[in-house]
Amino acid sequence: MSDITKIVKERYGKAALQVLSGSTASCCGPSSQESSCCGASPLVPGAVDPITANLYDEQQTGGLPPEAVLASLGCGNPTALAALHPGEVVLDLGSGGGIDVLLSARRVGPSGKAYGLDMTDEMLALARENQRKAGLDNVEFLKGQIEEIPLPENSVDVIISNCVINLSADKDRVLAEAFRVLKPGGRLAVSDVVVRGEIPPEIRRSVELWVGCISGALDESVYVEKLRQAGFVDVSIEPTRVYRAEDARDFLNTQDIDLDTIAPLVDNKFYSGFIRATKPGQ
Ligand SMILES: C[S@@+](CC[C@H](N)C(=O)[O-])C[C@H]1O[C@@H](n2cnc3c(N)ncnc32)[C@H](O)[C@@H]1O
Repeated sequence: MSDITKIVKERYGKAALQVLSGSTASCCGPSSQESSCCGASPLVPGAVDPITANLYDEQQTGGLPPEAVLASLGCGNPTALAALHPGEVVLDLGSGGGIDVLLSARRVGPSGKAYGLDMTDEMLALARENQRKAGLDNVEFLKGQIEEIPLPENSVDVIISNCVINLSADKDRVLAEAFRVLKPGGRLAVSDVVVRGEIPPEIRRSVELWVGCISGALDESVYVEKLRQAGFVDVSIEPTRVYRAEDARDFLNTQDIDLDTIAPLVDNKFYSGFIRATKPGQ
């Protein structure tokens, strides 16, 4: 396991324990700014996190255990944008507290199945507890890394993921594994943080720490190219939430970065995107 993976695992283990003990999930704070992983809000008590806040509407989450909603640490809402059909098999890469797995399980129904894959034991415990409370049988949480998916080839109809691929130190491997386990004609439908255009490297790293991209968000053109290289077709990225420098003001202040100076360099350059791609061959 790489050093980056170990840091990610430790951080999300703590976030899961926070939810299991009754608080809202967060995974950064003044003592952990070096590798913050979920936006600025924990630095400012009471502030709303512009990345993770208000991703799901109540109609969608009605009937889910509150802990599943509290544990949400994504940057999008992949199941709202993905086409899911009864009877399909869905796999969520980096399933966390399980919110997107539970939502998918309801969409594919009892004849379908929703898998969640996560490497962090505490997150798996939280997700399984949320599954129990939701009373869903067509769900299974698997332990493992998204770089080595513990499922056979051609076994999944739809891969979803919510703000996890940017954490991986080996994105090519993640995309190759996603391609391997998808059935011919299977769809990738993931939310992730994406970068658009040139940004000075130091400033980019600071904003990435704020957004939570531990090993670096991909530039949109690089993301598309990597998906094509993995074998995917019909690749597209649709921005769902574009970030302004102002959104990161409190975090950047703690990094001694003058917001007004860097605003023109980062405004509208980081966004949460919905990434679609298809495995050919049906
Ligand atoms: C940003 S959280 C997102 C959780 C969930 N998708 C959500 O929307 O709430 C990242 C999750 O991915 C898991 N994760 C990160 N990197 C991983 C990897 N390489 N393999 C497996 N799980 C990973 C973490 O343990 C954590 O639960």
